[in-house]
Amino acid sequence: MKALILSGGTGSRLRPLSHSTPKQLVPVLNRPVLEHVLDNVRELGITEIGLIVGAGDRAVPRAIGDGARFGARITYLPQDRPSGLADCVRIARPFLGGDDFVMYLGDNMLPEGIADCAARFRAERPAAQLVLKRVADPTAFGVAELDGTGRVLRLTEKPREPRSDLAMIGVYFFTAAIHAAVAAIAPSPRGELEITDAVQWLVDRGEPVGATEYAGYWKDIGRIEDVLDCNRWMLARQTGSVAGEVDPASTVAEDVVVERGARVLRSRIDAPALVGAGSVIEDSHVGPGSAIGRDCLVKSTRLLDSVVLDGASISHVSGLRSSLIGRGATIGRSRDDRELHRLIVGDDTRTEIAA
Ligand code: TTP
Repeated sequence: MKALILSGGTGSRLRPLSHSTPKQLVPVLNRPVLEHVLDNVRELGITEIGLIVGAGDRAVPRAIGDGARFGARITYLPQDRPSGLADCVRIARPFLGGDDFVMYLGDNMLPEGIADCAARFRAERPAAQLVLKRVADPTAFGVAELDGTGRVLRLTEKPREPRSDLAMIGVYFFTAAIHAAVAAIAPSPRGELEITDAVQWLVDRGEPVGATEYAGYWKDIGRIEDVLDCNRWMLARQTGSVAGEVDPASTVAEDVVVERGARVLRSRIDAPALVGAGSVIEDSHVGPGSAIGRDCLVKSTRLLDSVVLDGASISHVSGLRSSLIGRGATIGRSRDDRELHRLIVGDDTRTEIAA
């Protein structure tokens, strides 16, 4: 079995982060989402991995490399523009050949793995096997209707009146039967080749299409809130360790990770939290749910439930909560004005100020 991981797309809902970084490289516990995806794929014993990237994207190949680090071989497959998930299968056809494969959206986090779904697909080998999750609002998803035996009867993309609450999430298993379906379908009204249409084509021809309901935690890192939520979930399950320096005037709770080269000075860090390598926390209170990247500075600040990306600096801020601070950003005290805030805010950013 091979894997096809999708790391193209626009990422419009993840602005401003996606202005400068493909969303699949956004960190969860200081590692790009794509690395977590690769871990899950490698756990299935798969070594041949095709990676769809936006044409001209250098960031993903630079961050991920040729796969040797993961014990795999990665073939980069450029996509001219985001033309749909089924378009990715079309592009990957020469790479996939006649092999079975798992298609995995590179912005989906399933930290408990997909081994059970893969085992079922390998045992039964239906033409397609979907992974489904019950969601509160199915109107934003591809929705599946099943018969009593769990076979897929019908798929609807973003239905206005959903007939089930079973949403398709970002993992699909296919045999080579999917290629005829992808070749047969036409673009949807939004101009994309939809994987939902390709799978429906298989259903309409009587091909077996199965589904497994996913019981574990799942998050599609589509919006900033999703990045915060996923970091929070992962932080709550990490095991604490201190490889960096904590001075005697600091208090660091048990389930906190302080990476190598990080320094905690005259500060309190409540669990769960992560301080990345090379970062300095000084005269500060870092509260639960905070993941601080590498080489950051947090000085005379209170920070709760927030994600800080590499190289950011936050000083003399009385309190920040549920915030996401981008790479190399600086937040600090105004030098010459005690009353008015001074902001230099990038495109599509969101700033909330406690009045
Ligand atoms: P989406 O989240 O559906 O689309 P998007 O990345 O364009 O984001 P937004 O809606 O915020 O603009 O994409 C799901 C995954 O599939 C994601 O990892 C990007 C990838 N993808 C491709 O690689 N090529 C494509 O043509 C599309 C549509 C998505």
